[in-house]
Amino acid sequence: MAVDLLLGLQWGDEGKGKIVDVLTKDYDIIARFQGGPNAGHTLEFDGIKHVLHTIPSGIFHKTAMNLVGNGVVIDPVIFQKELDALGKFNIDYISKLLISRKAHLILPTHRLLDAASEAAKGKAKIGSTLKGIGPTYMDKTGRNGMRIGDLELSDWKEKYRALANKHEAMIGFYNVDIQYDLPELEADFFKAVDQLKKLTFIDSEEYLYRAQKEGRKILAEGAQGSLLDIDFGTYPFVTSSNTTAAGACTGLGVAPNQIGSVFGIFKAYTTRVGSGPFPTELFDADGETMGRVGNEFGATTGRSRRCGWLDLVALKYAVQVNGVTELMMMKGDVLSGFPKLKVCTAYNYKGEEITHLPYNIEAENVTPIYTEMDGWAQDLTKMRSPEEFPKALNEYIAFLEKELEVPIKIVSVGPDRTQTILR
Ligand code: IMP
Repeated sequence: MAVDLLLGLQWGDEGKGKIVDVLTKDYDIIARFQGGPNAGHTLEFDGIKHVLHTIPSGIFHKTAMNLVGNGVVIDPVIFQKELDALGKFNIDYISKLLISRKAHLILPTHRLLDAASEAAKGKAKIGSTLKGIGPTYMDKTGRNGMRIGDLELSDWKEKYRALANKHEAMIGFYNVDIQYDLPELEADFFKAVDQLKKLTFIDSEEYLYRAQKEGRKILAEGAQGSLLDIDFGTYPFVTSSNTTAAGACTGLGVAPNQIGSVFGIFKAYTTRVGSGPFPTELFDADGETMGRVGNEFGATTGRSRRCGWLDLVALKYAVQVNGVTELMMMKGDVLSGFPKLKVCTAYNYKGEEITHLPYNIEAENVTPIYTEMDGWAQDLTKMRSPEEFPKALNEYIAFLEKELEVPIKIVSVGPDRTQTILR
């Protein structure tokens, strides 16, 4: 049984949480493969809004098992808060949540290092979520990190101390003014680790291998978006892991020939939080309208998201790098009321028209070239079938499918589970 993938194709916040939640009924296991609490997956149903950061979005379904894979980095303190929030809704997370022993731990000093690094960068800062993601992955690849499996060893606190001491020295090296009370942070951390240890730690690659053999259906869930990938994103304004399809293989231990469908999610327009190039960004009333109507504020940091027209050059690149087999278009409803819609189909790159994503997409090198299309006035949020779609929306979808050469199978017209239309 192949493992299907669900990935965001832009700069994150495409609405993966909602789609995993909708797809979960078809899967036995939902497995998260990269990132950490920098992510914020928002799910809405029965009039309640839930935000998950590290825990896979299948947790709200009775049947699905949820796995936090080896590619993920876990902050026990934030994890505990997520569990507490689930507990309030009587979700039985103890029996439905598994954690890979090979997942890495975010220590309080990783968060401090993130803050120190960003402060030292000044104007050149990445716009990190300050959750300690970069420093934790640096320790992972530098072969200094602490893993979930270490918590099962009797000397884990000694290992912790040595690493935290090293981090403190590094914070000093940055020579920036970071205020913190480490004993207080550590007290919270140790308390949260005690709670975390009540969950089941497993050798997850073995678990997934057996599950596949038994014919159980697995959905691998990414966090962040393809353009934040450490290799293929808009470096250095990216996150510190592989958010693209290959990340699911290394982040779960699934062999490449075991990957089945690749579901790619994108918004009908584009958003980005944090710093970095964004060719189709709008600084006018249209961008402001997208942000307001689309409620474009980060689920993790509350920062307002930058908004702009759909960038097909970037989207095609993401479809290509991920091998997307089915597309899902989110937030179609947000575009209602724009008399004309623009879609970027090429870039003017240093005076030449190109249709691929070049090495450098900073504004001084790239000017988007747009195709203009008719908009639609109708409110889509009450629609429940594609037959109800206005003609201009169908034309918009058909244009994207032709350009991307992949079918758009789902159109989302609002945050609720019920506002998800299959085509
Ligand atoms: P970090 O992953 O916290 O280090 O942040 C690096 C960059 O990725 C920043 O621009 C963040 O705003 C962005 N980022 C990280 N996680 C997310 C996410 O879940 N959605 C959108 N942007 C994200």
